[in-house]
Amino acid sequence: VLAGPRIALRARQPQDVEVLHAELYDDVELFARTMQSAWRPHPPIPDSPFTPAAPSEHEAKFTVVHRESGDVLGSALLFSIDTHNRSAQIGLWLRPACRGRGYGTEAVGVFCRYGFRILGLHRLQMDTLADNVAMVTAAERNGFQLEGRLREAVWVDGRFVDSLVLGLAVDHWSPDALRGAG
Ligand SMILES: CC(C)(COP(=O)(O)OP(=O)(O)OC[C@H]1O[C@@H](n2cnc3c(N)ncnc32)[C@H](O)[C@@H]1OP(=O)(O)O)[C@@H](O)C(=O)NCCC(=O)NCCS
Repeated sequence: VLAGPRIALRARQPQDVEVLHAELYDDVELFARTMQSAWRPHPPIPDSPFTPAAPSEHEAKFTVVHRESGDVLGSALLFSIDTHNRSAQIGLWLRPACRGRGYGTEAVGVFCRYGFRILGLHRLQMDTLADNVAMVTAAERNGFQLEGRLREAVWVDGRFVDSLVLGLAVDHWSPDALRGAG
């Protein structure tokens, strides 16, 4: 378990799948904005994208939970883990009722500590739509900087929209955001 002040990132459990699939996969608008592919109907059983997976060199799948209550808050993914260039990308999806409470900012901070201190990565990256203010701000609060804008790069609900690349190298990371973490 990776712990922040209020949230924790723990391994995906089979009992997490139903709620994550219902609130994150079956939200077609959210899927279009964050998955870079066309939504298709897909049952949660037996192979939801949220189904637990064995540990991999290239990907680490987590469930975001509230530390005190244990409630499932969302899904978090470290992907494109590249052990040669020592880099990886962060993906984060909170349940609708759990957004806007600072959990996303905390989760990014927990990922930074895991990526830099545990995996020994040199660089973390996050790609998001240009209008995703919450994601951009959560990244910037943890020291990520805007590195580029890919114009009209992503097809979302009938139009092309800009995508942003945010990056953070370990030398520019300050773990202060997690001060007091358990
Ligand atoms: C993106 C996401 C992970 C951010 O997590 P969050 O917990 O909602 O964000 P936080 O509460 O930590 O807020 C981060 C900042 O954004 C601001 N913010 C939050 N929601 C916002 C909104 N809807 N509009 C504008 N600003 C917003 C907050 O005020 C905060 O800024 P502050 O530090 O100056 O107060 C979450 O909103 C989410 O899961 N969204 C849907 C999935 C998604 O878009 N994932 C990203 C895929 S790339």
